[in-house]
Amino acid sequence: PTHDILVLPGDGIGPEVMQAALAVLDAATENSDLELRLSFDLLHGAAWERYGAFCREETVAAALTADAVLAGAVGGPRWDNIRVPGGPEMQDGLMRLRKELRAYAGLRPARAWPGSHSRTPFRPGLAETADILVLREMCGGVMFALPRGQETRATGRYALDTAAYSEGEIRRIAEAGFRLARGRRGRMVSADKANVMESYRLWRAVVGEVAADYPDVRLTHMYADNCAYQMMRRPQDFDVVIGCNLIGDFLSDLAAVVSGSLGLLPSACLRGAPHGGPVPGIYEPVHGSAPDIAGKGIANPIGMILSIAMMLEHSLDAPDIARKIEAAVGQALADGVATPDLDGTASTSDMTAAVIERLGA
Ligand code: NAI
Ligand code: MG
Repeated sequence: PTHDILVLPGDGIGPEVMQAALAVLDAATENSDLELRLSFDLLHGAAWERYGAFCREETVAAALTADAVLAGAVGGPRWDNIRVPGGPEMQDGLMRLRKELRAYAGLRPARAWPGSHSRTPFRPGLAETADILVLREMCGGVMFALPRGQETRATGRYALDTAAYSEGEIRRIAEAGFRLARGRRGRMVSADKANVMESYRLWRAVVGEVAADYPDVRLTHMYADNCAYQMMRRPQDFDVVIGCNLIGDFLSDLAAVVSGSLGLLPSACLRGAPHGGPVPGIYEPVHGSAPDIAGKGIANPIGMILSIAMMLEHSLDAPDIARKIEAAVGQALADGVATPDLDGTASTSDMTAAVIERLGA
């Protein structure tokens, strides 16, 4: 089968990890019956410099027709404070794509890899088997809701964001969470702040209602602050954790501690709940553009490589190739290949070569 993939390398270390991950994709699909048609475009900072827009209409159109979109990271100090006309999605190329594609289900798996555990702050026995899937709502909540803005008042400067969710938005992310939990270890924690905020009171009520359709999944509601604490105290007890756009963002970076580095975490933003068949999606590492290490050739490419594995699984219906890539990553880490974020000295290309070498194993 033939698949169209839109590749958006992005900014900072984005192009570095994308180049690495595409080499792995190429090697892993050699001799398979998958035919991939890749097209490339600029996004966010790179697009701003060339076209004066963070995400062009052409890019949106190409993303809507592609079977999958691969995105590196975007952003950087040069662009983070630019404001353009339009809503919040116009200020950020990736947020615009997530919104236009209605890619609301953000799957962010974090697991402990053999060999990477020594880099975690956990005592032996606590996190070696941890395997957490943070499911982040990607298209709503405080990052998108209106009104928002800044103004100067008699009392000084004033800024406003709105935290808001509709029942439908909560229901669809809850359903995705329950389905994912059903395919895993059957447990789901919903993280909110229903003790102090109205939108989270609705969140908790709707998630509780949807739970009735999934009696095989054990649901626990937790306040997000306590959830963060418990995730670090007993990481191996967590299975699926769902949260709004903001809480899911925090909890997915936090979950990275379990695996040893933010550079190891992949993500998928799916256009719909997983249902067993292929779903279009945007695949990107959880990390950002890491301006502090950009251009040095030392970025850990594994988050991007594992994002490609997620694409093979969820959008291209090739779970066997996804498993092959994950096994090669696990083997490289177990063999002690480590970039500086994992306290090693391997470069991005060393790590990439190590993964490719182990694809056949
Ligand atoms: P960041 O995730 O880029 O970096 C945080 C820390 O983790 C840095 O010390 C960085 O060196 C390290 N790190 C991240 N990825 C790594 C990798 N693959 N290998 C080794 N080390 C890695 O977050 P930061 O610094 O807060 O944000 C930088 C820029 O990225 C900002 O402009 C921000 O808006 C943007 N950003 C973009 C995201 C995206 O494209 N989805 C997500 C998060 C931030
Ligand atoms: Mg984040």
